[in-house]
Amino acid sequence: HETVADQQYRPKIHFSPPKGFMNDPNGLIFDGRYYHLYYQHNPFGPYAGHVHWGHAVSTDLYTWQDLPIAIHETEAGEAYSGCAILDRDNRSGLFPARTQDKPQPGSVETAAQKAARLLEGKGEQDQREIDRLAVGPLQGHQKSEYLAALRDDPVAGKDVPVPMAPALPPMAGGLVAIYTRATPQRQTQYLAWSPDGGQTLKDYEGNPVLDIGHNSFRDPKVFWHGPTEKWVMVVVRSREHKVSFYGSFDLKHWMHLSDFGPSGITGVDYECPALAEVEVEGEAPGEKRWVLFVSINPGGPQGGSITQYFVGQFDGERFIPDDTIVDLTDFGKDSYALQTYENMPGKQTVYIAWLDNWQYCEELPNKSWRGIMTLPRKVVLRRDTAGWLRIAQNPYKLEALRKAAIPFPLSRLEAQSSRQVAIPAGEAIELVLDAALEERHNSNLPDGEQGRAGRFVVVFSNRQGESLSIGFDGFSCQLWLDRSNLHGFSHPFFTGTFSSALVPGSRRFKLRIVLDASTLEVFANEGMSVGTALIYPANPLETLSVQVTNAAAVIHKLELYPLRQTVS
Ligand code: FRU
Repeated sequence: HETVADQQYRPKIHFSPPKGFMNDPNGLIFDGRYYHLYYQHNPFGPYAGHVHWGHAVSTDLYTWQDLPIAIHETEAGEAYSGCAILDRDNRSGLFPARTQDKPQPGSVETAAQKAARLLEGKGEQDQREIDRLAVGPLQGHQKSEYLAALRDDPVAGKDVPVPMAPALPPMAGGLVAIYTRATPQRQTQYLAWSPDGGQTLKDYEGNPVLDIGHNSFRDPKVFWHGPTEKWVMVVVRSREHKVSFYGSFDLKHWMHLSDFGPSGITGVDYECPALAEVEVEGEAPGEKRWVLFVSINPGGPQGGSITQYFVGQFDGERFIPDDTIVDLTDFGKDSYALQTYENMPGKQTVYIAWLDNWQYCEELPNKSWRGIMTLPRKVVLRRDTAGWLRIAQNPYKLEALRKAAIPFPLSRLEAQSSRQVAIPAGEAIELVLDAALEERHNSNLPDGEQGRAGRFVVVFSNRQGESLSIGFDGFSCQLWLDRSNLHGFSHPFFTGTFSSALVPGSRRFKLRIVLDASTLEVFANEGMSVGTALIYPANPLETLSVQVTNAAAVIHKLELYPLRQTVS
């Protein structure tokens, strides 16, 4: 049942699962009409485990319709992370001729039918079958709950209601998911094909399609490499800190191409790799570079899990980084396992990440559901002040959600002053700010107490004395994010403050801040620095104030928008 925390912390414009646990985004693909978001999902409880693929679709990447589970945990293992591609020409041969598209009533017993049979039977043989079906650390009574859930699952073994209009134009093939089946002994790569535009995913009979006899070999991301006319899979040998590249012409047979790593920050495990060809902003039109994203857990510099990236070249066989630079996608600690969208209109690079951290994801104050996705973010490459190519990330088409702006006219703030405005309780809001601190203000404080040469602070607060601040320090040109004075959650790993260096020597800075229930996303200087944080105010934040110390500030832009709620 839903607790107050379950309601209070559920975001209004970010995807979160109706119930149970969610981690990585999977199978992100635009099929020409729908954006699919599959996700790592435990439907039975608010903890990681019993991993299935949940499924939601959207036409705008903000308004999601949750659909029945697409891939189940089976006797072959849990359904770990993976991706989806469109096999338009049926190169895989997985798709029957169009006339036979309708799933045939199977002769094989479905998981639901099996669960029903086992729940009725009482024999010893059954107990062994039950143990095999209800895998994992389930206690006796939990096993029957698990079986009941399997039996009552709206999809398994029944005709699937089709709430979506047929998405795909007639094509020989269709949507294929490539993912990891995981048992404690083995991680192997599986194919599943969809007869109905992504709603149901049927395991290929010849699975696994890639098995190297390994127990930490997972998270395949596949894409079509045009120049060499083949599918390329990026997958990790986690504990060895290697990203492996494989090639295939039919998705069923894979050849090893090369390995990358260990490189950058190794942490304990490499997870969820992604390789994308990304546009370089402001250079020759069409100029692109390849970006390899590698998530690491645990062992991220901010603690726990985080994603790093490398910029370089990919020739269809190997990834060669341009330089020795390793950078993180985030200066906070709650953005992990990002996956880029396949088949995005205009070949844009847009990703969604899991807005969470493995350090505390199973102990968050909400209980009937856990796990949130980030906003969709568009990625480009841009040169930083030293001339290196870095990713810049911004919310994708968020403007479409803006309601009438909340008036907050302000063009200048004198030193040691502040202004405030009420923000609507329970709504997601976006703040857009472009400001510059002037030179240090000669305050009348005695020597030694004058402090640094100016700070600009954005504070969200409430009457109960909680506050959340995002600030810019003009002396060091650094940004901070401080969630430590919120009282809804405390945990040894739930650290409070994070910082990021902006442009050295520049007292001007730009911020785009999105606050939505238990989430905060900060995009600084047009996305060059991004900070993502879970936040747990015990009481709703009701006031926004801007304050400056030790310097006046010129405000070039200050806009505040409530955002249209997309989650019902
Ligand atoms: C990353 C991860 C993946 C794995 C999945 C299991 O968060 O550990 O490596 O496939 O989660 O749910």
